[in-house]
Amino acid sequence: MGRLDGKVAHVTGASSGIGLATVERFVADGAVVVGSDLAAPDDFVGADFHECDVRDGERQQTVADAIVADHGRIDIVVTSAGVASGGPLHSLDVEEWQRCQDINLTGTMLSIRCALPTMIEQGSGSIITVASVEGIEGCEGGSTYNASKGGVILLTKNVACDYGPAGIRANAICPGFIDTPMLQSVLGEESDFRTAITNQHKLRRLGRAEELASVASFLASEDASFVSGVALPVDGGYTAGHSYGLAESFVKM
Ligand SMILES: NC(=O)c1ccc[n+]([C@@H]2O[C@H](COP(=O)([O-])OP(=O)(O)OC[C@H]3O[C@@H](n4cnc5c(N)ncnc54)[C@H](O)[C@@H]3O)[C@@H](O)[C@H]2O)c1
Repeated sequence: MGRLDGKVAHVTGASSGIGLATVERFVADGAVVVGSDLAAPDDFVGADFHECDVRDGERQQTVADAIVADHGRIDIVVTSAGVASGGPLHSLDVEEWQRCQDINLTGTMLSIRCALPTMIEQGSGSIITVASVEGIEGCEGGSTYNASKGGVILLTKNVACDYGPAGIRANAICPGFIDTPMLQSVLGEESDFRTAITNQHKLRRLGRAEELASVASFLASEDASFVSGVALPVDGGYTAGHSYGLAESFVKM
């Protein structure tokens, strides 16, 4: 028996990275998974796929309506659609700031909002947003992205506050740096910057998309039936504290 047997899930950003891994994990766990993204991946293993820009509220509503029409309910929403963005504030292009907020924060809000009436009617639902460790703490050059992800965390907590009485749980996953196409586009394959960031993770490695998908599966399942309003770092210890490279001398490598 699968952990998510009989559950109907919508995963945004389903064509790549964490979203794609979540689709695969949820299918393996028994869920009926509907994915959406700007374009479909080559081999989609879920039940249905819809092309949808998360900034388009009308299109998002059409997708949510189609899920209910085709599968009868929406038990789980995972909002993984997102973009990287960065740079110091004084030289920031305001249009780029807005693009990042529109996709990462407003897009997340719209994905949640479209599913809420169905979840309220059902009296149940699990919403899992993909925020970031960069929504919890600052980092060099991160103003644009970090503001969007900080917003996602508080939005998620507010959804937990407003819809808990209707049996709806909402939690944010805060990944550390995960080796996905997004990260590769920012860090490249090998660089001092990549090594420095890797070493901020106390496990001294980057995360894998599957390691986020397994936590999403837990939060979506009945195993997390009393977990709501949490911003959960899944970050190999990135946010545990500062790292100076001293720990290697304490333990046998
Ligand atoms: N990779 C990391 O290190 C990391 C760390 C923390 C948080 N995150 C977050 O995890 C989520 C997934 O990122 P990933 O690393 O898997 O990246 P990714 O680039 O592999 O996947 C992101 C997906 O979002 C889709 N997307 C982008 N803009 C969209 C839009 N307007 N409408 C619909 N879909 C859109 C892309 O097409 C892509 O398929 C993002 O929200 C990202 O901010 C990633």
